[in-house]
Amino acid sequence: MRPPEARTLTPDPSPAERDRGGTSPLSHASGRGAGGEGRRTNGAAENRVADLIASSGIAPTEARSLLAFALDASREWLIAHPQGPVGSTAARRFGDLCGRRQAGEPMAYLLGEREFFGRRFAVDPSVLIPRPETEGLVEAALHEMEGLSDPSILELGTGSGCVAIVLALERPDARVVATDASESALALAQINAIELAAQAEFLHGDWYAPVRGRRFDLIVSNPPYIAAADPHLAELGCEPRHALTDEGDGLSCLQTIIAGAGAHLNQVGVLVLEHGFDQGAAVRALMRQHGLGSVRTRADLAGLERVCIARHG
Ligand SMILES: C[S@@+](CC[C@H](N)C(=O)[O-])C[C@H]1O[C@@H](n2cnc3c(N)ncnc32)[C@H](O)[C@@H]1O
Repeated sequence: MRPPEARTLTPDPSPAERDRGGTSPLSHASGRGAGGEGRRTNGAAENRVADLIASSGIAPTEARSLLAFALDASREWLIAHPQGPVGSTAARRFGDLCGRRQAGEPMAYLLGEREFFGRRFAVDPSVLIPRPETEGLVEAALHEMEGLSDPSILELGTGSGCVAIVLALERPDARVVATDASESALALAQINAIELAAQAEFLHGDWYAPVRGRRFDLIVSNPPYIAAADPHLAELGCEPRHALTDEGDGLSCLQTIIAGAGAHLNQVGVLVLEHGFDQGAAVRALMRQHGLGSVRTRADLAGLERVCIARHG
């Protein structure tokens, strides 16, 4: 049996793995947890895969993912080799990751990536972690573009770029522009676009400001819509606050985007917005107030209203 350090069993490198290069971001590992004990005999590592996972203090599935990451091995290798050896450096990295997980850091930030619409996106604490419910936003946008050739698409608040990039990949005939107020988010979105070979233009600025005077066939957005007083916000403390909340009632970013849609949509262009499960009625009302038509709402698999759609003209 080859130890995983031989790297012959490494899966396709993720964006995060490629980014790591030779210098591990975990090189200052504290050695907390199972791997930190460093059981050795004459310098030989005696850590075993199964023991490290069992004593990790976190859920086994998460521990397996973090150990695979620390070893640069695949989860399949770990499952097939429970008695596989783990060197002391990897064990220390693993211990550090487990400590951070126990402290509440999201798995996606620890692993540096999250899957969205079947693709792997690099993520870091400068961007919101892509959510499964946002796949519904992408599906709605794709549905609205059926029958339209060479559509122009604007995504407002792109974060990791997951929405704009998936739309660009699913509709290679589209011209996709994505904006964000965060320069660090845009930098990561650009890296993701390059890694996934997607064509999109990324622009920095406040909502429509970077696209003043331009019109699109489709505008899509998943803006910050959590109210500042929402108790759930505290549970999301690792993610950038400006990506989660408008610091108000949760509707102000949605309102800004709806108010600007008419000036940035082509005739019969479509606005597709993700919102909170309890904001459907308010978003529909805002869309009508701002002169948009064919207003409708799409529910998710749980029957919750998550996406509102409206047409200009
Ligand atoms: C909920 S996140 C969505 C990220 C990504 N589109 C997704 O669905 O995972 C909202 C995004 O809006 C951006 N944002 C917040 N305020 C903004 C503003 N005034 N102008 C442009 N973007 C803004 C945030 O930086 C963040 O990336």
